[in-house]
Amino acid sequence: MSNTDLVNPSKKVIPQHVAIIMDGNGRWANLQGKTRVLGHKAGVSSVRAIVSDSRELGIKALTLFAFSSENWQRPKAEVSVLMDLFMYVLTKEVKRLHKNDIRFKVIGDVSRFSSKLQQKIIASEKLTENNTGMVLSVAANYGGRWDIVQAAKQIASKVASKQMTLDDITEQSLSAHACLAEVPDLDLLIRTGGDCRISNFLLWQAAYAEFYFTDVLWPDFDSEQFNKALAVFEQRERRFGQTGEQITTVQSAV
Ligand code: IPE
Ligand code: IPE
Ligand code: MG
Repeated sequence: MSNTDLVNPSKKVIPQHVAIIMDGNGRWANLQGKTRVLGHKAGVSSVRAIVSDSRELGIKALTLFAFSSENWQRPKAEVSVLMDLFMYVLTKEVKRLHKNDIRFKVIGDVSRFSSKLQQKIIASEKLTENNTGMVLSVAANYGGRWDIVQAAKQIASKVASKQMTLDDITEQSLSAHACLAEVPDLDLLIRTGGDCRISNFLLWQAAYAEFYFTDVLWPDFDSEQFNKALAVFEQRERRFGQTGEQITTVQSAV
């Protein structure tokens, strides 16, 4: 726990910003003798549950990895189903997000998506832009290296046009040009599906996040599993480079 973590009404320490690598849909489907596509469809129910739990718990930002910049390398048919599913879920769910005061954002290079999907994304972001209950960011055609490069390009262009100087390039200004600049720092990064890697997700933003890896496959990740992850987070001592003693002293002083 750090002194920036939230304490919710039930006195639980909850992270302000949770990100999830939603992995294991294909294996979930294979285990049931179904096609991978059905695994992706089943994963949508987990998304619904975790979004709703996060909002109820008072988490301020939830970031979900839906499609990586490397996922274009999958078979064309699977990519196409994932795009259709994204469109379908947006059409069906955004009103519900809006009703629950959730702001919806997409992070990633959306320029590679169909114009219909891009329009849907813009409309969904616009509809929910004034909501303040929680920010739900969906990472689509996102890569952590792409994010750092796009931030660097924005900064380079500002330096070239003299809106910024070399000395203005700091960790803070790079963060401000990277994705998720408007939400609290990442506290907890969850990966389902049993692999212990980051797969080019929030490379910059995860600098001091707590990592939680679980073997549970994404379609099986429910409220109980989420609570388990949050309970583990609560037990972690976040030292941010300091000693354990320093942290204990600060906490007992507040
Ligand atoms: C995650 O599940 C969803 C996406 C990457 C779109 P996978 O499709 O990677 O499922 P596994 O890892 O093959 O089981
Ligand atoms: C990471 O999962 C991307 C998403 C969950 C969207 P992958 O299944 O693509 O990751 P790798 O290929 O196993 O590293
Ligand atoms: Mg996978």
